[in-house]
Amino acid sequence: MSRHPAPKQPVDNTRRRLLLGAGAAAGSVLVPGAAQAEAAAARHHVTDAPTGDASFADRWPFYGEHQQGVTTPRPASGMIASFDVLAQTPGDLEALFRGLTERLVFLTQGWTPPELDPKLPPPDSGILGPVVAPDNLTATVSLGSSLFDDRDWLKPLKPKKLQRMTKFPNDALDAGICHGDLVLQFCANRPDTTIHALRDVLKSMPDKLLLRWKQEGTVPVIPPNPDGRVESARNLLGFRDGSANPDSGDSIVWVGEAHDEPAWAVGGTYQAVRIVRNFVERWDRTPLGEQERIMGRRKPSGAPFNGHTEFDEPDYTKDPDGKVTAHDAHIRLANPRTAESRKNLILRRPFNYSNGVTKSGQLEQGLLFICYQADLEAGFITVQRRLNGEPLEEYLKPIGGGYFYVPPGALSPGDYVGRTLIEAAREGKASPT
Ligand code: HEM
Repeated sequence: MSRHPAPKQPVDNTRRRLLLGAGAAAGSVLVPGAAQAEAAAARHHVTDAPTGDASFADRWPFYGEHQQGVTTPRPASGMIASFDVLAQTPGDLEALFRGLTERLVFLTQGWTPPELDPKLPPPDSGILGPVVAPDNLTATVSLGSSLFDDRDWLKPLKPKKLQRMTKFPNDALDAGICHGDLVLQFCANRPDTTIHALRDVLKSMPDKLLLRWKQEGTVPVIPPNPDGRVESARNLLGFRDGSANPDSGDSIVWVGEAHDEPAWAVGGTYQAVRIVRNFVERWDRTPLGEQERIMGRRKPSGAPFNGHTEFDEPDYTKDPDGKVTAHDAHIRLANPRTAESRKNLILRRPFNYSNGVTKSGQLEQGLLFICYQADLEAGFITVQRRLNGEPLEEYLKPIGGGYFYVPPGALSPGDYVGRTLIEAAREGKASPT
């Protein structure tokens, strides 16, 4: 379930750079096939810290059975942008999906905008210069329950577990940063690239999408270890985040034929987004021993109390009374590691966020928590219910987010993200337009 990187072995990152960045030196861009890229992504742990040696020329293939940005390793910058969808008919929605896919292909693969008449607005914002480099950009489209609920012809096609996020006991949800009909997750080496992508989409489809809210985030870069060790990045509480993530290729992530979901949804996954504020001033005044007890791990190494490295597995069978790892420690509640709790595993792919200062003079920062799973109920919702009331809550306040469904990927040029949904809608009605 978790990785145990043997010391002195070649680093996944090296392999990834061979696949993705080899063209950079020669001034060209090497695009791996989808299968190669998936294999690289599966080997490369989703939450390994970015090593800071990424190239502008790095790019992930856009086309494939699954969308990018779920199992692809998390780069240093991320953004969630939530929109209202203006389309009311299948024809309008198809036009939105086709137009969006076209833009996302350009943005993720890189392009050179044409020169145009100076009397017209330029074809590109220009913030990345005259050539738009891919910069490791991934774009992931997901759909909220309101998209389905507000359109009679889409209602029967709603993924079975998709629902509007409701309040958990510790939440103080701000309606202005919750929900949405459609969400774009952009991830890239640099924040300028995600902002550029968002501005391109806004400019390209003003009659189709209305921006509701966005949240940007970062992942701290850790320089590569000479001995090849790969580490998980730290969150803003100073702990490593991602040590116990399941393998990214794990079947818990993707909806398959065997799942009780509409056929169009096969190859997709549920996305849970939570903007979780951290009370960092309070945390920084809490004794180290207390921080570690609350989390269930050592702070410097990220190791569980019965291990030495962050990748050692906590063994709760030898600790039935919670003397080593408290029963209410974050990691023990989140994953009790019983045969029964295996079906609740989730793939976490979060970013840290920092939004300035609150009116009361506190830092407004925390975790842009994002996770993926084939079953939203068994995954995020069950895990969050187990975490309700945990001691960590004293330092957390979830304030926004939502639940979304990531449709399967576009398979090849000419195909578009959302096609299987549009086809299913057309099949389900005599003459939808
Ligand atoms: C600001 C909020 C949060 C912080 C600071 C935080 C921090 C951490 C840390 C430091 C770890 C240990 C390292 C690791 O295995 O990744 C961890 C593990 C974990 N967290 Fe969180 N977390 C937060 C929110 C959440 C939420 C909202 C969920 C899901 C509802 C969640 C689910 C998990 C899971 C499943 C694990 C792995 C446990 C294991 O398999 O041993 N966390 N978290």
